[in-house]
Amino acid sequence: MIISFVSCSGGGESPDNATDTDTADTTEAATEAQTAEPLETETEAPLPELGAAEFAYEDNAPSLAEEFKDFFLVGAAVNPDQFASPKSDTYKMIKKQFNTLVLENASKPDAVQPREGSFNFDVMDRFVRFGEKIGAVLRGHTLVWHSQCPDWFFFDKGEAASAELVLLRMNTHITTTVSRYKGRIHTWDVVNEVFGDGGGLRDSYWLERVGDHDGDGDKYDFIEAAFYAARAADPDARLIINDYGLETNTNKANTAYRAIRDMMKDGVPIDGVGFQMHISLGTNINTVRQNMKMFAKLKDINPDFKIEVTELDMSIYEWNENSTKEFDATLQKKQKRLYRELFELFIELSEEGLLDSVVFWGISDGNSWLNKSDRPNYPMLIGREFRFKDSYFEVVELARSKKQ
Ligand code: G3I
Repeated sequence: MIISFVSCSGGGESPDNATDTDTADTTEAATEAQTAEPLETETEAPLPELGAAEFAYEDNAPSLAEEFKDFFLVGAAVNPDQFASPKSDTYKMIKKQFNTLVLENASKPDAVQPREGSFNFDVMDRFVRFGEKIGAVLRGHTLVWHSQCPDWFFFDKGEAASAELVLLRMNTHITTTVSRYKGRIHTWDVVNEVFGDGGGLRDSYWLERVGDHDGDGDKYDFIEAAFYAARAADPDARLIINDYGLETNTNKANTAYRAIRDMMKDGVPIDGVGFQMHISLGTNINTVRQNMKMFAKLKDINPDFKIEVTELDMSIYEWNENSTKEFDATLQKKQKRLYRELFELFIELSEEGLLDSVVFWGISDGNSWLNKSDRPNYPMLIGREFRFKDSYFEVVELARSKKQ
């Protein structure tokens, strides 16, 4: 199966205030972006021998993007220092391993519009130029979130802002941001984490201030308005509702499913659900399977509907675990097994036309948000110094076996 994606290259106005080293060589950029999608007529180069390279940035290393290209895109959340220099190993590694990218923090509301009317697109512009240069499908994270969103959205001269004012500000933020990258950012996490862990909608300023503004009996109004604004700003962008715990918290997944179904039935332009997938070694794969498959039913409402994996990592600790432990042979084996089961499920979902994008939240163990100053973590496929882990080879071998 060959998946075809909307090209993110060219089109739209150019974010021309970038100052990084990637600005030169637009010919190479255009060529690479145009050739990023696999062509059915292409002659396949032999896949690299596993183990021949020690580091994930080496020329003769395997590539996750390449290995899974018949099934789904493989991506990562990145930070600007990681793509500042094309000569760095980090830059080379990202370019080699991933074909879809998102910024970990720099496209959130507090970074983009820290004060009302004061937009800062410097990092996003650099990100888009970098992504296009290496031919990656680009994602925007996120437009509406209760966290990393400045308080000015919700106050008016020290008092609670009216629903109309909050919606106006939200609309301005979305319209300005999405239209700037029209045709270039392929997918937006329009709203993030709007569902509560115990069911229902999450309590937030967005929910509190806007509430049931249209008087129809539900409080989805800020979510609906966000999707309509994003659709108007870029009619071709894929619009995602993104959340954590949907893969394991069945109560939350049921709530989210019903709310999304109802909004889609009302015509709200939701193109997909993002499963963040911050999981751990104790995660039950059967629950993940059941919850992901439940959302497949939304395809009956919109045949183009997809589920996506948007922030994948696999902590060696459970959420309530405070101890520190070695990532020893037993845990490595456990991780290898769970990553295999997970990628088997992803391949199955891709073959059913339900999933076409799997994004890691970080690029390697050393760069993950899960590391604490006194407690390192090992949640990714690529290890520190960009060394391959057993888990990496396990999923690559799985991909190869599925293609035979
Ligand atoms: O940039 C400042 C730095 O100047 C300062 O010295 C330092 C001191 O703490 O903080 C730095 O900012 C931190 C920022 O990450 C950049 O490293 C913030 O404190 C920290 O809160 C922030 O954490 C981010 C977190 O979202 C915020 O909620 C994580 O990096 C980021 O990985 C995480 O990403 C979220 C997704 O957006 C949504 N899903 C869950 C996921 C993981 O929590």
